[in-house]
Amino acid sequence: MLLLTVSASAGLSQSKTSLFNESAVDKQKRIQWWTDDRFGMFIHWGLYSLGARHEWLKHNEHMTNEEYQKYFGMFNPDDFEPVKWAKAAKAAGMKYAVLTTKHHDGFCLFDSKYTDYKATNTPAGRDLVREYVNAFRAQGLKVGFYYSLLDWHHPDYTMDDVHPLVQMDTSQANYDRLNKGRDMAKYRQYLRNQITELLTNYGKIDVLWLDWTWDKSDKRGKHAEDWGAKDLIKLIRKLQPGIIVNNRLGLDDDYSDGGDFVTPEQVSTKELQNYRGKTWETCQTFSGSWGYYRDETSWKTHRQLLDLLITSVANGGNLILNVGPTARGEFDYRATYALDSLSYWMHANSKAIYDCTFAPASFVIPDNTKLTYNPKTGKLYLHLFDFTEGGTLTLPGYAGKFKYAQLLNDDSEILYTTSGSDVILKMPKVSPPYEIPVIELTL
Ligand code: GLC
Repeated sequence: MLLLTVSASAGLSQSKTSLFNESAVDKQKRIQWWTDDRFGMFIHWGLYSLGARHEWLKHNEHMTNEEYQKYFGMFNPDDFEPVKWAKAAKAAGMKYAVLTTKHHDGFCLFDSKYTDYKATNTPAGRDLVREYVNAFRAQGLKVGFYYSLLDWHHPDYTMDDVHPLVQMDTSQANYDRLNKGRDMAKYRQYLRNQITELLTNYGKIDVLWLDWTWDKSDKRGKHAEDWGAKDLIKLIRKLQPGIIVNNRLGLDDDYSDGGDFVTPEQVSTKELQNYRGKTWETCQTFSGSWGYYRDETSWKTHRQLLDLLITSVANGGNLILNVGPTARGEFDYRATYALDSLSYWMHANSKAIYDCTFAPASFVIPDNTKLTYNPKTGKLYLHLFDFTEGGTLTLPGYAGKFKYAQLLNDDSEILYTTSGSDVILKMPKVSPPYEIPVIELTL
């Protein structure tokens, strides 16, 4: 084991050991496609899609397995055509996808040998994960699996502070009563068995997204030891040496390589700057819930979604945007509209996203813009959050720093003058038809 010193987010130095003998260069090679691709699709789909009121409804409504069972008998996704999902993802410019093979409710979309609680035994009657894998792969997208470490159905999974059964009565006596006869060691084996199935039966899997582990200080939480996390990640990397794994196994505090990327969830665009310099992916929903939520009205606007994408890249990270398909297996009209709008923008402006990261520090960020930068091609992209038709845009200190300026969507020249060290761009008289137009500077 190697001892190394890494900087924690607070800027403090902390010693961590490593689990794998992989150099920084080798890790970078392993994850390169992912940091280049920048944009992925998350898909939360399962029995909770029928409830259509949050993927945590079993917890929120304190449901027993028996009460939740009604969804199992009704799960019949007659509109499920994963090729349509894959085409929508691809059109929106997403390059990889991650599907919930099992969520916290324990229901498996795949045909596992180790449980009966799976899609093959519902009216769906087949392995839906396999169809997803085939469809996305055929569209040239990278394929990822989400797998919940939590399991609110398994008889050996012990209690914790979010288990649906403790919600009604959180007393220690009830907790202890519910835990009788449960054996976490058996559940650990179940985890290993299912992850082995997922990583052996479906060909090359590009990403594994495990969810989630409590903070060390949480007394009624589960921690790395509960999952057998150290052995689990070794197994994962053995079964799929090229795979990229997120950081939710609870190994982060102690190991420098207990996960490949950090996962800021539903954070604001403002907070994303805190992640610069790390390897990260922000996961975000269209409207709040991950699973299909019929009555939710808090849908993000096209501008908010673009802002998330641009700001992620402008801070050197990825965005994985979630769709919660309906129980019938379709993206609903709101998701479709959101994805179509992204397709429209990405068709014209994706060069400012792929292979890009934050700009060199020598470039000041002009007012009402965000900057992305492609180090391979030496292009700097100004994302214009405000556009004054026929006006000017001052680029402070940019004189002599670039050779040519054009709109990205149509390669039309942008004229400019200099004033001291500043550059004054002459903005087109008519705004390009994009919510956030992009100017490309060739450095
Ligand atoms: C949270 C939630 C879960 C969701 C996940 C996605 O951990 O528990 O419902 O799947 O975030 O990031």
